[in-house]
Amino acid sequence: MKVLKYPHPVLLRKTKHLVRVDSDLKKTIREIFELMNQEKGIGLAAPQIGLPYRFFIMNLAYSIEGMNKEYVFINPEIRKRSGMTTLEEGCLSLPDIFADVRRPEKIVVSAYDINGEEFTYELSGLFARAVQHEYDHLDGVVFTDRLDWVGKRAVRTALSELEDEFETDRRLGRIPDDETICRELQELETLRT
Ligand code: CO
Repeated sequence: MKVLKYPHPVLLRKTKHLVRVDSDLKKTIREIFELMNQEKGIGLAAPQIGLPYRFFIMNLAYSIEGMNKEYVFINPEIRKRSGMTTLEEGCLSLPDIFADVRRPEKIVVSAYDINGEEFTYELSGLFARAVQHEYDHLDGVVFTDRLDWVGKRAVRTALSELEDEFETDRRLGRIPDDETICRELQELETLRT
């Protein structure tokens, strides 16, 4: 398992609601937490490791001291958004790119946990920001899509470098063609959505 980099097609695709969380998926979620820990991330969404499902994980430990708690958001819905604020964001799928992103300051989000229990959180600050960033991944949206034209211009070179690396990896056979990726994702969807 590894974190897929932009512009891998799975990162640009909308995910599907999970209808079941079997023991295999629970084991995978455990592995995603370990991977995120290694990479010192605070959130990872299913598409970032190649899964076409609506869920993401979060642990704010690397950004907020004393916040070492693991969260799984399955089939999340953002029900309310209020205020606006600007914060710097980065993403494990867009390495070395950081930019100020404007988003709602507070949100109300509902989701299911790993045991199928529904929960609702009223969030602000970094937690609200991280949830919105991960939620976007489930719709095939990366944070650079949220920048205004000045911001987009600032990251243009870095993005085209990632695009070049992706093309090179594909030429070298490290990444399958679109048709193969699509077929694999459809099989995964049939399994659990
Ligand atoms: Co991200």
